[in-house]
Amino acid sequence: MPNTLDHSYVQKSSWKPNLFAGKVVFITGGAGSICRVQAEALVLLGANAAIIGRNVEKTEAAAKEIASLRPGAKVIGIGAVDVRKIQSLKEAVDKTVQELGRIDYVIAGAAGNFLSDFNHLSSNAFKSVIDIDLLGSFNTIKVTFDQLRKNKGSVIFVSATLHYYGVPMQTHVGAAKAGVDALCNALAVELGPLGIRLNCIAPGAIAGTEGMSRLAPPGGEPLEKKIPLQRQGTTTDIADATVYLFSPAASYVTGDVLVVDGGMWQVGGLMGDFYPNIIIHQNEDPEGKL
Ligand code: COA
Repeated sequence: MPNTLDHSYVQKSSWKPNLFAGKVVFITGGAGSICRVQAEALVLLGANAAIIGRNVEKTEAAAKEIASLRPGAKVIGIGAVDVRKIQSLKEAVDKTVQELGRIDYVIAGAAGNFLSDFNHLSSNAFKSVIDIDLLGSFNTIKVTFDQLRKNKGSVIFVSATLHYYGVPMQTHVGAAKAGVDALCNALAVELGPLGIRLNCIAPGAIAGTEGMSRLAPPGGEPLEKKIPLQRQGTTTDIADATVYLFSPAASYVTGDVLVVDGGMWQVGGLMGDFYPNIIIHQNEDPEGKL
């Protein structure tokens, strides 16, 4: 996957070049569609980065491409890391500190998702998503805590808007992301006195992402028509929110959720033509899973 951003981002954006010079960001899920562009923006604005992922080849290739965005940028890709396994995450942190010297910013972005009605959602499927999204976020902060404390760092969790209302086929993710928001609230209070800020970004429908290709309901009226700002979001919208939250402009912002969705959840989000018929049909199936 090529980079989404290029040097024109620095010229065109509201942010000054070298805003993050000397800083290091640690990003789980950093080779994925949304977090990848968060990394690109931070690196273009002066940061070095560690991209953490499960797939070795994809993670290393992404790191190499992101590094090419800025002369002198150091970006390392650390693959074969599963956020559910704290030891592998701890080793990734040690390697980052060894190679890049420090960690100032953390993005807990690794996530798992698929559409499933309740009847066909097994206990193990529910647990897999809770483990990746919620336990994985906890583990990520746990292993970077020493660096965050030392550098008065800042954290962004990638959340969602699914749990603000009832979204069918997303029981697992809604529950996980509600937990992520709660984790953020509690840690903002607990770690604030240490100078650590923690916030969430809740993306809406972001065009071209893995989430949209998995989750957008097929057919029906174009999604844009249902979004108050009349367009799908872009990964650059999320990158800009990220830059804001890590920048000194947000130095008094913690425990907050920045919703970047063009107003979509306010009008009932993705609830489309498929509701309620498909749900009734699925949940009547006597061959449900345990
Ligand atoms: N519908 C219903 N259940 C599903 C499913 C689907 N589409 N996909 C997976 N599952 C179930 C599996 O059947 C399994 O349950 P079982 O043991 O009862 O059969 C359980 O989920 C775990 O699946 P497995 O493939 O073993 O887990 P994994 O840890 O390898 O993968 C997932 C985790 C399932 C979340 C996988 O989708 C993933 O790795 N996603 C990462 C990328 C991603 O989702 N990105 C989108 C971000 S928005």
